[in-house]
Amino acid sequence: MKTPVYIAVTGAAGQISYSLLFRLAAGLFLGPDQPIVLRLLEVPQAMKALQGVVMELNDCASSLLHRIEITDDPRVAFKNVDYVFLIGAKPRTAGMERKDLLTVNAQIFAEQGRALNEVASRKVKVLITGNPANTNALIAIKNAPDLTPENFTCMSRLDHNRGISQLAEKCGVFASDIKNMAVWGNHSASQYPDLHYAKVKGQDALPLVGEDWFKNVFIPTVQQRGTEIINARGQSSAASAANAAIDHMKSWVFGTADGDWVSMGVLSDGSYGIEAGLVYSFPVTVVGDAINIVKGLDINEFSLQHLRQNELELRQERDEVRSLC
Ligand code: NAD
Ligand code: LMR
Repeated sequence: MKTPVYIAVTGAAGQISYSLLFRLAAGLFLGPDQPIVLRLLEVPQAMKALQGVVMELNDCASSLLHRIEITDDPRVAFKNVDYVFLIGAKPRTAGMERKDLLTVNAQIFAEQGRALNEVASRKVKVLITGNPANTNALIAIKNAPDLTPENFTCMSRLDHNRGISQLAEKCGVFASDIKNMAVWGNHSASQYPDLHYAKVKGQDALPLVGEDWFKNVFIPTVQQRGTEIINARGQSSAASAANAAIDHMKSWVFGTADGDWVSMGVLSDGSYGIEAGLVYSFPVTVVGDAINIVKGLDINEFSLQHLRQNELELRQERDEVRSLC
């Protein structure tokens, strides 16, 4: 058996974690021969509920799950960890936008950034899922000056997967037939799911589906999917978010497939004119340990407007939490 790796999950008694943890224990992230130790972080009021989750995890009798440790102290949770899922944060409810969560959630990511800075492995891979994910990631980065921004990414993979699923359904193909989906910008209603480079079984997607469907159906459907789920379920997406978190981390750890890319929120390096220092979703490839923003894509006027709108929104979010980042 390999040496166990340490995975920390915050918000471990919450609804996303309730889908995520069982997938981790089943080997769906690191594979069927990699034992894991789960470090589960919660607030003190949720410790009893978390103990229930731990009982259920134990009852799965997973031979990959080496040990479970629970704590309400981020410095204990993050000590020497290899992988961190920062999920614990308040979700929005009907009628709210994700940025309305900024003042409630920002402090969590400042504190957890500081804790990661102090105790996490210098090679730690941290995925920020809690909303508003891009700006929370920026806050965590700024509060972890002894780690590098490359230690942190935020999740736009759910939007990426939503885009793939919509396109596959429209074209009557499998999700695996779709390549080169791109989601740009903020994980908000302004996000720009972009089909200009997407391929369906090797063919350009746009001529297949038409500009009208792209602009008037596809974009708003993907942008509003989170809201639609809240309106239907009364709670925000959870199982699909857990699934996307695993997809994201697998791409980060094992790399992207040849000729394809994924969407991730990373610190902008100024690519495509996006202000350096904002956490922005780009199409990326992962090779070895490096996440590379896909360069040199043609951006037409329509796309440019969307890219700029997202940049502006992320600047405004950052300016709202200037004291934390
Ligand atoms: P939830 O309310 O079911 O669970 C959140 C959990 O976090 C709770 O158990 C709470 O006690 C815990 N928590 C709060 N503060 C904490 C802290 N400081 N440390 C550790 N734990 C803490 O919410 P959920 O549905 O699991 O969603 C979690 C977050 O993920 C929300 O902000 C939601 O909007 C976001 N989300 C993001 C995406 C995405 O694509 N990026 C998708 C879905 C949900
Ligand atoms: C989502 O996209 O489903 C999540 O960000 C939850 C939300 O608030 O929409």
